[in-house]
This record gives sequence, C-alpha cells and structure tokens, in this order.
Amino acid sequence: MARSGKDRDTRVRTAKKRTASSTRWLQRQLNDPYVKQAKAEGYRSRAAYKLIELDEKFGLLKGVTRVVDLGIAPGGWSQVVRKLKPKAHVVGIDLLEVEPIDGVTIFQMDFMDDEAPAVLEDALGGKADLVMSDMAANTVGHKQTDHLRTMGLVEAGAWFAIENLAPGGTYLAKVLAGGTDNEMLKLLKQHFKTVKHAKPPASRKGSSEWYVIAQGFKGGV
Ligand SMILES: C[S@@+](CC[C@H](N)C(=O)[O-])C[C@H]1O[C@@H](n2cnc3c(N)ncnc32)[C@H](O)[C@@H]1O
Repeated sequence: MARSGKDRDTRVRTAKKRTASSTRWLQRQLNDPYVKQAKAEGYRSRAAYKLIELDEKFGLLKGVTRVVDLGIAPGGWSQVVRKLKPKAHVVGIDLLEVEPIDGVTIFQMDFMDDEAPAVLEDALGGKADLVMSDMAANTVGHKQTDHLRTMGLVEAGAWFAIENLAPGGTYLAKVLAGGTDNEMLKLLKQHFKTVKHAKPPASRKGSSEWYVIAQGFKGGV
C-alpha cells in the first residue's frame, strides 16, 4: 500500500504502567497503514483487507447471495461482503458481542456448541455460496496444542461448509503456517475441485496465519 508523505510514523511515549510489549503493539497499530485505511474507509478491522485481497486473487465474492461468517467479530469481513455485494444475506457467529451490521444476522455463541450449526442453517434459509472462517483459537504458546486447536476449528468449519454449501461454493478458513494437515487436505480435495493456500499482503509477516481456499464444491452430500 502506498504511504503519503504526511503519514509520518507516530511515536508512542512509554507510559509508566504500559508494558514493553503493549507499547510495541500500540506503536505498530498507530503506524500500520491498513489500520489507518480501515479507519478512513469505515471498516471495523484491518482484517477487512485480508478478505479484499483474497477476493481480488480468488474471486471469492463472485455471484454470492448467501454467506456465512464464522468468527465475525468485530465485523470487518461482513462489512466487506455487504459493501461489494449489497444484496448478499450474511449470517455470522462469534463468542463476542458484535455491533449490528445492516443485512447481517449475528449470533453470539460458540460455533463448537452442538446447536450452533442448526442455528446458522435456520438463519441462512438456503444453501450458502461462501462459508468463511477467520476463527482463531486462543494460543497457549505450545506449538502442537495450538495447531490441534486451530485445526479443530478448521475441521468443524469444513464439515459445516460441506453440509451447507451449494454446488460450486467456496470454503475459506484461517490456518497456521504449514497449512492444513494431510487428513484435512484429503477431506477438502474430496469435496472441492481446487484447494489452495495463501497469505494475503495484509496478513502481518511475523504472524503464522495463512488461509486455505477450497473452491468449486462438488455437492452431493
Ligand atoms: C480474527 S477475529 C475475526 C475478525 C473478523 N474477520 C473481522 O474482519 O472483523 C477471530 C474471531 O474468532 C472468534 N472465535 C474464536 N473461536 C470461536 C468459536 N469457537 N466460536 C465463535 N467464534 C470464535 C473470536 O472471538 C474472534 O472474534
């Protein structure tokens, strides 16, 4: 993203009570061009640009009318969908409360709850064209535990997608570096024509997040 001459870096004065890591976070946040752009364009999160960039590369939003947003809070991805596809009906879920978004039905609950899939299906009122998951498990710093937790969310999202997508539909999910494991890849390849991994430019270089993009749902489940 181009930066204008006016965009001089903001220095954060170290407040007494602020830890070194929160000062670093604040400094990075204040100087992040995506944060500035999100503020200027009315998006609730810089994550909005990850979806915009993935859409530019993979045409995720082409022709969508029903979309599911797993891990919707604070709402950046759904805002993008509604801005680019104003007629699309979006259904979202998150553990956190989300400010209402026009055209988006939002549930505050755990997607891993047994009832969650049925609640989303009812609100959707038909097969979806895109199931997208930006859900992230709380990391504990233990590599294998974090990987397993994240893959649990990716797998639950994949089964939901397989059961609720219209033929030709797309499943997009956040994964960790290294991508999806073999079992997951096998499942996705069985049900989708193409399965790719990508890290959009808006995804911070230091972060281990990647996205898996499964397109061309074969249907028939
Ligand atoms: C990175 S944020 C999503 C940002 C969003 N895409 C945006 O553009 O605003 C990930 C979200 O996933 C949610 N999440 C994680 N696990 C979840 C679960 N089991 N059920 C529902 N939401 C979950 C978190 O609460 C968090 O708000």
